[in-house]
Amino acid sequence: MHHPVLITGASSGIGEACAVHLAHKGFRVFAAARRLDRLEELSGLAGGRITPLRMDVADEASVVAALEVVADAGVRLYGLVNNAGVSVMGPLEALSLEDWRRQYETNVFGLATVTRLVLPQLRAAGAGRIVNIGSVAGRIAAPFQGAYASSKHAVEGLSDALRRELAPHGVKVSVVRPGFINTPFGAAEQDALASFADAGPYADQVRRFKAWHAKGHPAAPPPGVVAEAVYHALTAARPRARYVVPRRMLGALALRNLAPTFMVDRIFERVTGLDRADLDHASPDPASPDGADHGPGTAGRGGAAGPVRSTATPGDAS
Ligand SMILES: NC(=O)c1ccc[n+]([C@@H]2O[C@H](COP(=O)([O-])OP(=O)(O)OC[C@H]3O[C@@H](n4cnc5c(N)ncnc54)[C@H](OP(=O)(O)O)[C@@H]3O)[C@@H](O)[C@H]2O)c1
Repeated sequence: MHHPVLITGASSGIGEACAVHLAHKGFRVFAAARRLDRLEELSGLAGGRITPLRMDVADEASVVAALEVVADAGVRLYGLVNNAGVSVMGPLEALSLEDWRRQYETNVFGLATVTRLVLPQLRAAGAGRIVNIGSVAGRIAAPFQGAYASSKHAVEGLSDALRRELAPHGVKVSVVRPGFINTPFGAAEQDALASFADAGPYADQVRRFKAWHAKGHPAAPPPGVVAEAVYHALTAARPRARYVVPRRMLGALALRNLAPTFMVDRIFERVTGLDRADLDHASPDPASPDGADHGPGTAGRGGAAGPVRSTATPGDAS
């Protein structure tokens, strides 16, 4: 089988693992991201079935240009894995509009843009698969993760609508919801949290949350577990609407769905140590230029790979 599939955010972590796994399984993989140098390291693997593509999902012209490369190669895509993602972490009060836009430009608008531009060829073929990488945070929102978790809630909503729109056209849509996965994402989140941990009204809460969060990613499964779920979504005759990886996260989701919200809140506080936080109500406004150094543009900053984000709780999230 050499079905062509496009994977966004393939220069690192989950996207890279998906690219390698799917290529080994016989897919022809178009691996897209902004860091072409990292993608080029993949092109020698798996019998040369991985083609690097420069693409910034937040820049429509860049998406169009990348898809032209695919079309010029005479390829019609069968699958799309919307994986590119960043996480902007921090207390909502301290996040600027620019931070929120950066979060949504990639995780929501970018995903919608790539999907919109790829869809005509899948629909015209009357067959195809779309796999959206959501998150457990798309159902369970941890504190200091409001921007990221809300973007992943959006991915859940748009995926449900899309699945129902496309079913009559033969295109199947799945969401894969990872919990903590051991990728560079975790370190970026830690860096982001650090910028809120020294001063300001949330400092002690953030320090406690950060300490809890620090244990999550290193102990988490490797990204290959997500790649296996993506492979199933792309190949099963009846792919699931939702995949949760690792499976143990199903317990956290069941708790979130079945337990009263006040109880879930208490568990969050207890598990993350937030119930023991010292609050400084006299701290200056974190968004103020005179307050803690968390002004617009500093919150949730991260590297080119994608900023910051956190992970949730009665288990994980991200
Ligand atoms: N790791 C976890 O615990 C976890 C848990 C739940 C969900 N997830 C989700 O899984 C996905 C992948 O995360 P990861 O853990 O693999 O993180 P990662 O190692 O940081 O990889 C993120 C990828 O997204 C790409 N990316 C970011 N912004 C982009 C843009 N504007 N255009 C194109 N590509 C962009 C990055 O490539 P370039 O910088 O080269 O563009 C990189 O390849 C994300 O959607 C994340 O929300 C991760």
